[in-house]
Amino acid sequence: STEDATGGVEVKRGNMSDPEDDDDSSSDTDFEPSQLGTKEYWEDVYQKELETFTDIGDVGEIWFGEESMSRVLRWMDRAKIPAEAAILDIGTGNGAFLVELAKHGRRNLTGIDYSLASVELARNVLSGEDLSDVTVKEVDFLNCHGELKGFDVCIDKGTFDAISLNPDSSKEDKKLYVQALKDALKDKGFFAITSCNWTKEQLLDRFCDGFEFVEELPTPSFHFGGKKGNSVTALIFKRMY
Ligand SMILES: C[S@@+](CC[C@H](N)C(=O)[O-])C[C@H]1O[C@@H](n2cnc3c(N)ncnc32)[C@H](O)[C@@H]1O
Repeated sequence: STEDATGGVEVKRGNMSDPEDDDDSSSDTDFEPSQLGTKEYWEDVYQKELETFTDIGDVGEIWFGEESMSRVLRWMDRAKIPAEAAILDIGTGNGAFLVELAKHGRRNLTGIDYSLASVELARNVLSGEDLSDVTVKEVDFLNCHGELKGFDVCIDKGTFDAISLNPDSSKEDKKLYVQALKDALKDKGFFAITSCNWTKEQLLDRFCDGFEFVEELPTPSFHFGGKKGNSVTALIFKRMY
């Protein structure tokens, strides 16, 4: 049986590659590198989405569906994250998550993306909603040179997945990602990751050093061949020194 709470967006597990991750004992993927890992790919995607938004006001793809944002928003309320907490959306894309966060009363929001077209699109989407006090910056998370720090919460929806796909240096990039995340978060700050590429066990393995696992957010599950799986994984971690 398949429970689809993904807002109609098709999601797949294990379709993203990790060919160089020979030190990752929990990796069970064995696929070819994908263009999805390159900056050129995303620049092209968001250039087209920017044109569409300008033409017809459509913000474009909501990765993993609306529910993927709602479950993180609900967790923030449950965890009593204050409205003024500094929140960073890593790889914000079209900025749709920033819009939802702002509409839910979050007042200290920053989005970053290494695609200039994404940054322009996110700014346009936000200003279309009269949300001009949200900061959106063109930053490569893997090369941010300490520019990002002091955040109470970092959110990632599909960006670590995309970074894991970089055909040139995925193994190195994953390590850079973990370090950049440690630098960006305050002590005891939270990290909310939504991934379609990595299982809970793989994410626990990746974010074990310097992070404490807090909880798994329920996501749609399916049964296939006698096994149960989840189309996406959503986990909360806490930064510990
Ligand atoms: C799958 S999309 C998800 C976008 C957005 N988080 C969402 O949920 O709609 C991956 C995003 O990560 C961004 N990205 C990939 N690598 C990045 C990097 N090194 N630094 C900043 N952004 C990056 C891409 O430009 C793209 O916007």
